[in-house]
Amino acid sequence: MFGAIQLGLFAACVVLFVPMGMAGWHLSRNKMLFFSGALFITLAVGVHLTPYFPSVSDFVTSVSSIVVLDDRDSCFSSLHEIDWEVSASSNYDPLNNNSVNYDKSWYWRRSSSVDSCEFQKLNRHDVADLLNGSWVMVAGDSQARFFALSLLSLVLDSEQMESARQSLFRRHSNYHIVVNEIGMKLDFIWAPYTSNLTDLVMGLSETRNYPDVLVMGSGLWDMLHITNASDYGVSLQLLRRSITSLLPISPEFSTEGSATSSVSVRSTHLFWLDLPTLINSMLNTEEKREKMTDVMRVSYERELKKSQILQQFGGPFQQLDIGSLSWDCGIRCTDDGMHYDGAVYDAAVHILLNALLIVSHQKL
Ligand SMILES: *[C@@H]1O[C@H](CO)[C@@H](O)[C@H](O)[C@H]1NC(C)=O
Ligand SMILES: *[C@@H]1O[C@H](CO)[C@@H](O)[C@H](O)[C@H]1NC(C)=O
Ligand SMILES: *[C@@H]1O[C@H](CO)[C@@H](O)[C@H](O)[C@H]1NC(C)=O
Ligand SMILES: *[C@@H]1O[C@H](CO)[C@@H](O)[C@H](O)[C@H]1NC(C)=O
Repeated sequence: MFGAIQLGLFAACVVLFVPMGMAGWHLSRNKMLFFSGALFITLAVGVHLTPYFPSVSDFVTSVSSIVVLDDRDSCFSSLHEIDWEVSASSNYDPLNNNSVNYDKSWYWRRSSSVDSCEFQKLNRHDVADLLNGSWVMVAGDSQARFFALSLLSLVLDSEQMESARQSLFRRHSNYHIVVNEIGMKLDFIWAPYTSNLTDLVMGLSETRNYPDVLVMGSGLWDMLHITNASDYGVSLQLLRRSITSLLPISPEFSTEGSATSSVSVRSTHLFWLDLPTLINSMLNTEEKREKMTDVMRVSYERELKKSQILQQFGGPFQQLDIGSLSWDCGIRCTDDGMHYDGAVYDAAVHILLNALLIVSHQKL
C-alpha cells in the first residue's frame, strides 16, 4: 500500500508539473490542457492495465514488498542445497551389486542461509493442508512419472500406493486420481516430447481450466529419437511462448483485481523437471549409449538455458534440478544410468512443496 500511495503521488506530480513545465515552453493554454488530459488518461489507463502486465505489476508489487522479495529470492536459490548420505545397507548382497543395496537419505545443508528459510520435509498432514483442494498436473516422460509417484507417496496409504503404482506404470498412458480425503486431484499426462507439452498447454487454454500446479519436463526422448539439440531449443521456445501467452501464470504474486473477467482466473505455479545425470556406461541399450552422450547432454542443457524457460533466466518455470540432485546422490542411486531411486524424486517433490510454501507466505 505504501508503494501504491507513492506511485499515486508521483503520478499526480507528473500530471500537474509536466504540463506546467511545458507551459514554460510557450505552449498555449489549450495545448497545455490537452497535454494534461492526455497524460492523465495515459496514467489512468496504465494503472488499470497494470494487473494484466505481469512485469509491470511485479514492479509495482515489488515496491511494496521489497523486503519479503529479497528474502524469498534467496530462499528460492537455496532450495537445492541438499546433501546426501548413501551407505551400504545391512542386507547388502555382493552378487547383486545394484542400487537397492544402498540406503539413501538427504537433508538440507546446514548453513545460515538455508536455516533462515526454515525448509522442512513435509509429512502427510502438512501436505494435505498445503494441497487441499488443489489440482496438480505432472506431464512428461518417465521421469515425470517417477515424480508423480513420489508426490502420491506423501498423500496415499500403502494399499492405495500399490494400485497407483500399477496404473501409473502401465506403459505410455495417462493417469488420473482424486484423493478424496484432501480433495486433491492429480493428473499424470504422458507427454514425452516438448511438442506434446505445447499441445497440452493449448488444450488447457481451450477449456480455460488450469491446474494449480503444473510440473513439466522433456528432453530424454528428444535426445534418443531426434538427437538434435538446436531442434530441442526451438521446441522449448515454442513451449515458452505458448505458456506465457495462454496460461494465467503468476508464480510470485496473485493478480489483484482480476475478478473483472467471468472466468475465475487462478494462477498456475509452473515447475520444470530438468534432465537427470546420465551415466553413459550404465545405459541399457546400445542406441542409448551411442546417442545420449555427455556431449549431447551438455548441448541439451545449453539449449534449455538459452530458451529462457526457467525462472532464473527470466522464464515462467521454477527449476526442479534433477540434474544436480541425481549427480549428488550418485552412481549408487541408479541402475540404468538414467532413472534414479525414489529418494531423488522425493527430494524434488519436497523442493516443490517448499517453493509453494515460500510463494504462499505460509509457515506450517
Ligand atoms: C558396486 O558398485 C559400485 C558402483 O557401481 C562400486 O563402486 C563397488 O566397488 C561395487 N562393489 C562390488 C562389491 O562390486
Ligand atoms: C480441506 O479444506 C476443507 C475446506 O476448505 C476443510 O473442510 C477440510 O477439513 C480440509 N481437509 C484437510 C485434510 O485439510
Ligand atoms: C507426441 O508428439 C509426437 C511427435 O509430435 C507424436 O508423434 C505423438 O503422437 C505425441 N504423443 C502424445 C501422447 O501426444
Ligand atoms: C538440427 O536440425 C536443424 C534444423 O532443425 C538442422 O539445420 C541441423 O543441421 C540439424 N543438426 C544436426 C546435427 O543434424
